[in-house]
Amino acid sequence: MKTTSAGIELHYDILGSGPAVLFVHGFPLTGQMWQPSVATLSKSYRCIVPDLRGFGRSQASPTASMRIYADDLATVLDAAAQREPVVVVGLSMGGYVQFEFFRQHRSHVRAMVLADTRANEDNAEGRAKRQEMIAAVAKAGSKAAADAMIDKLFAPGVDPTLRREWLEIMSTASPMGVMAAVQAMADRPDSRPTLATIDVPTLIAVGEHDAITPPDVHREMHQAIRGSQMEVVPGAGHMLPVEKPAEFATLVGGFIERAVR
Ligand code: MLT
Repeated sequence: MKTTSAGIELHYDILGSGPAVLFVHGFPLTGQMWQPSVATLSKSYRCIVPDLRGFGRSQASPTASMRIYADDLATVLDAAAQREPVVVVGLSMGGYVQFEFFRQHRSHVRAMVLADTRANEDNAEGRAKRQEMIAAVAKAGSKAAADAMIDKLFAPGVDPTLRREWLEIMSTASPMGVMAAVQAMADRPDSRPTLATIDVPTLIAVGEHDAITPPDVHREMHQAIRGSQMEVVPGAGHMLPVEKPAEFATLVGGFIERAVR
């Protein structure tokens, strides 16, 4: 399905019916990353799966920000005629967007799943690395970002087919979309002050071997979000829902049943 947000065409899929769940993918990925978990979760829930601007089948814009992505999500919910608040599930950059969505569109949020993400902003070294990545993508295309990311995304010993598939998806992403997202991540605010304001049921889930946002940063979020539940999934890396979709769907489904039914 398609909608337009501030002049940019956005693609989203809707599968299943029941309480609604909005899935927000990571960088430089697409809504396809949720497909194996959504295959299960859509038996019980209305799964709304957008591609963020600049990724998958959504149009790119030369600039982006967490605020723009968050407002795009609100536009998608509107286009989907989703009136009731939703469970928001975000992975990594999707989690950064989710914090902004919570700040700007609180009334849409019924519960949250923060997967393989972090609340803190980039430090100076991190921001400098982002500029290097933007320069590399400007020169060599999105494959530069894909090559830089691929070894950190999956746990050691992952099925090579999955690795190949995602290397290909990331390599063919829109360079404009990728560069805009990297700048948006560099500019994102510190979301740690938001953690104490989160007053909806929250599940924090992380792969045991996540090399980008390791379990320790999730423990900090868990301590700061009142009443949150935290789960470390054995054998998974940063791509938890792609690497262990059955485990992820069971965790998220169990959480939603407790949180919203
Ligand atoms: C992601 O997986 O979305 C990114 O690796 C997050 C980041 O680079 O900070």
